[in-house]
Amino acid sequence: MRGIIAGPASFELGAKIASALGWRLVPLEFKTFPDGESYVRIDWGGFEGSDVVIVQSTHPPQDRHLMQLFLMADAARDAGLGVEAVVPYLAYSRQDKAFRAGEAVSAKTVCELMGCVGIRRLFVLDIHSEEVLNRSRVPIRNLTAMFDIGEYFLKKDLRDPIVVSPDEGARLHAERVASVLGCESSSFKKERDRITGEVAMTPSDARFSGRDVVLVDDMISTGGSMLKAMAAIKAKGARRVFVACTHPLLGADVGRRLIESGAEEIVGTDAFPNPFERVSVANAIAEALRSSA
Ligand code: R5P
Repeated sequence: MRGIIAGPASFELGAKIASALGWRLVPLEFKTFPDGESYVRIDWGGFEGSDVVIVQSTHPPQDRHLMQLFLMADAARDAGLGVEAVVPYLAYSRQDKAFRAGEAVSAKTVCELMGCVGIRRLFVLDIHSEEVLNRSRVPIRNLTAMFDIGEYFLKKDLRDPIVVSPDEGARLHAERVASVLGCESSSFKKERDRITGEVAMTPSDARFSGRDVVLVDDMISTGGSMLKAMAAIKAKGARRVFVACTHPLLGADVGRRLIESGAEEIVGTDAFPNPFERVSVANAIAEALRSSA
C-alpha cells in the first residue's frame, strides 16, 4: 500500500492525486513557529513499512517550501517509510550550470539535498532545464502538462491556430500542444545577457496574420518573454493571442499587464495554487504514479 502526504504547499493537489489513485492520505500536522521556522509531524500509524509519496511544490516562498519538503521526507524516512516526492514546480531549476565562474549551481544543490533526506525518486513537471535530470543523483521523472493544456485549447474553437514558444528551449512544449490541436508550431529565438539580464528576441518567420496564436512556455515569471513575444506576434497581424504555461509564477500585476497588452486569456495549471488555474495536472501525475508503482 502507498500513501500520499499532501504537503503544506500542495494540500489541494495532493488530495486530488490521492483521490484519483484511491490511495489514502497520510495525516500531517503542520505549523509555523512565531520566529518563522516550520514544524511538521507525520501521523504514520497504519502505514508501517509502506512507501509514501510526498506532494509538495516549491513555488514562492521557495526556501520555506523546500525546507518543509526536507522535514517531511526526513521524518518519513525516520519512521521507516520508503519516500518518493512529487515536486511539480522544482525551485532553482533555472540555475542548471555555472554561467559565470564561482556561481552556485543551485539546481544541483537542491537535487543533492533531496537525496540527503532520503527521497528515492522525484517526479517533476515541465522542468525548466532537462540538464538537471542528467546531473541529479536522485532519479527524476519529468512529466508534462502540455497535452492537458492542448486539450484545454481544443475546446476553444481557435481559428487557423499556431502554437509558439518564446524561445527554442520551450519548443518541445509548443510541439506538444500543437500535436493535440493538430496544427503548426514555431518558436522565437531568444538571447539573454547573463550580466544585465537583458533579452533580445527574434520572431520566427511563420505567418501570424489573421491567426489565433497560443504562446506557451514552462513558466511565466516577470512576463518579459511573453510580453515581447506577444508584441511581435500582434505586430504581424495575429487575430488573438492566448498565453499559457505550466507554472504561472507571475504576480497579479504581471497578469494585468499581459491582459492590457492584448492577451486574450492567461492559462495556467494547478501545479501550485495560483489565480490562473485553468488546467489540472492531477490526473497526469496520478497516472505516472500508478504506472510506476
Ligand atoms: C527563460 O529562459 C525561460 O524559458 C522563460 O521564458 C522564462 O523563465 C520566463 O521568465 P519571464 O516571465 O521572467 O520572462
